[in-house]
This record gives sequence, C-alpha cells and structure tokens, in this order.
Amino acid sequence: MQLADKVFVVTGGGNGMGREVVLQLITRGARVAAVDLNGAGLAETVTLAGAAEGRLTTHALNVSDRKAVLALPDAVIKAHGQVDGLFNVAGIIQPFVKINELDFDVIERVLNVNFWGVVNMTKAFLPHLLARPESGLLNVSSMGGFLPVPGQAAYGASKAAVKLFTEALFAETQGTPLKVTVIFPGGVGTNITANSGVDASKLEAAAAAGGGKVPKTTSPQDAGRQIIEAMEKGVFRATIGGDARFMDRMARLSPRRATLLIANQMKALLG
Ligand SMILES: NC(=O)c1ccc[n+]([C@@H]2O[C@H](COP(=O)([O-])OP(=O)(O)OC[C@H]3O[C@@H](n4cnc5c(N)ncnc54)[C@H](O)[C@@H]3O)[C@@H](O)[C@H]2O)c1
Repeated sequence: MQLADKVFVVTGGGNGMGREVVLQLITRGARVAAVDLNGAGLAETVTLAGAAEGRLTTHALNVSDRKAVLALPDAVIKAHGQVDGLFNVAGIIQPFVKINELDFDVIERVLNVNFWGVVNMTKAFLPHLLARPESGLLNVSSMGGFLPVPGQAAYGASKAAVKLFTEALFAETQGTPLKVTVIFPGGVGTNITANSGVDASKLEAAAAAGGGKVPKTTSPQDAGRQIIEAMEKGVFRATIGGDARFMDRMARLSPRRATLLIANQMKALLG
C-alpha cells in the first residue's frame, strides 16, 4: 500500500520501535495518530517528528483499557478523517524469573497489555479498516512467541497468543481489502526492560558472567523501517534480525533442540 497521505494508528509511539514507526511514517508523507501510555514519551516523539500541525496527533491511553480504546476510532477519525492502517507495537516484558516465582498479578498484567491490548485495538479498528479501499493491520509478536525463553514464560505466552490471533485474522480477511501482518523481532536495542519496570541488574550481571558478551541486536531505527516495509508490502509474516531468522528455522526443524539451546543460554541468568 502507498503510505503518503494515508492515516496510520501506531501504539507504543512514545518510545522504541513504535516511535521509529511514527517518525518514519511522518517522513514518508503519512498522517499518524500515535498512542501510548506514556504522555511524556509521546511529547518527545512529537518534538522529534517536527511534523506540520495536524499531521501527527497523540493519544495517551492504556491499550488494556477497553473503554478508552473503543473511544479511540472516533477521536482519530475526527482528527484525520479516516484510518488506513493500524500498527500494534506497544508491549512490555516480565521480570526474568521462573514460573514458580512469578506472581499471578504480573502474569495478568503482561497478558492484559500484550494480548488484550492487541485484541482491544484490533476489534476497535477492524470495521473501519474493512471499509477502506485498501488497508493494513500489523501486530508485533516476538521471537519469544514461537520459541520458549525461560524467565519470560508469560511474555512468550502473550506473544504466542498475538501470533495465532493475527494469523487467524489473516485467514479470515482473505478476499477483503485488508492485509494482515505479524512481525517477529529478535533482540532490538530499545529500553524495553526499564520501560517495563524490570530490574536490568541481573541481566547485566549474567552478561558479565558470560564474558561480558552482549548479544548483537537490531537498532530501533532499522526495526522501525522493516516494520513499515512489511505493512507496505502487505506480507503475511516477517522476522527482524539474524537471531530471529535463525531461531525461526531452527524452532521448526527441531523444536526441542531450539528450546534447549535458549534454556542453556539463560542458565546464567536464572540459575
Ligand atoms: N526490544 C526487543 O528486543 C523486542 C524483541 C521482540 C519483540 N519486541 C516487542 O516489540 C514491541 C515494542 O517494543 P520496544 O522494544 O520498542 O519497547 P519500548 O519499551 O521501547 O516501547 C514500548 C512502548 O509501549 C508503551 N506501552 C507499554 N505498555 C502500554 C500500554 N498498556 N498502553 C499503551 N502503551 C504502552 C510504552 O510506554 C513504550 O513507549 C513490544 O510489543 C515488544 O514486546 C521487542
């Protein structure tokens, strides 16, 4: 789909990959409604965009707040006249602990934001997207959504749910003007750990114990570009980064070996 002069809603627009998607869409001549829980983050995105008045609007809300999300299409259409695409990027990780030490309220919070947030946004905008001559809906899952990462069980389950929900939507919308895409990023160099309120000291200690090797990650700018291109091309699925591409193949060839490989890498962190 052509991006210029189209209207896109982007969740997670206040930081990381979502912010990059917002900035690059604006650069490419689109209009954007940026959504985020973090109002200060959204304000910073606006400053960075330096967009002409009205081309970029911000909407501070929690994607797991269904009432607020269901009121969003009216606000976006009032500001921009239409909606041609939705990027569901917002998400959080969980503390790096095993299921036995993971509290129910943490599991529920991760599922509420990552899964129910995507469901709320999808249900809110789907009728509008289906009514357009061409439209796109893209959900960000994760490498952790097809590959179990010890210490991220609830996160992985939420992202696996996003994967299946999006793939089912892809199947259901064949023959309609809507193109549906699911994205599986590997490691991306954002501040998701701190933004999710997760203590990073254990991660740093584990990296130091492993010889201080920090895994190579994709930059948020590059990830944002790839996310936009996936919507532009209307692809079914895309991985981001060599790590996600490699594990995507390995997890299908030998799920057990792939699981044990990651389990081994996480040993230093979880004990
Ligand atoms: N960073 C990675 O390595 C990585 C890897 C795979 C997948 N992902 C996924 O990519 C997406 C973007 O992650 P990122 O690394 O850019 O993170 P980030 O923390 O930089 O950005 C996420 C944004 O989402 C917002 N957000 C969080 N909870 C929200 C809520 N309830 N309602 C509205 N906004 C909310 C945050 O305020 C933040 O601005 C997430 O879904 C994440 O799970 C990230």
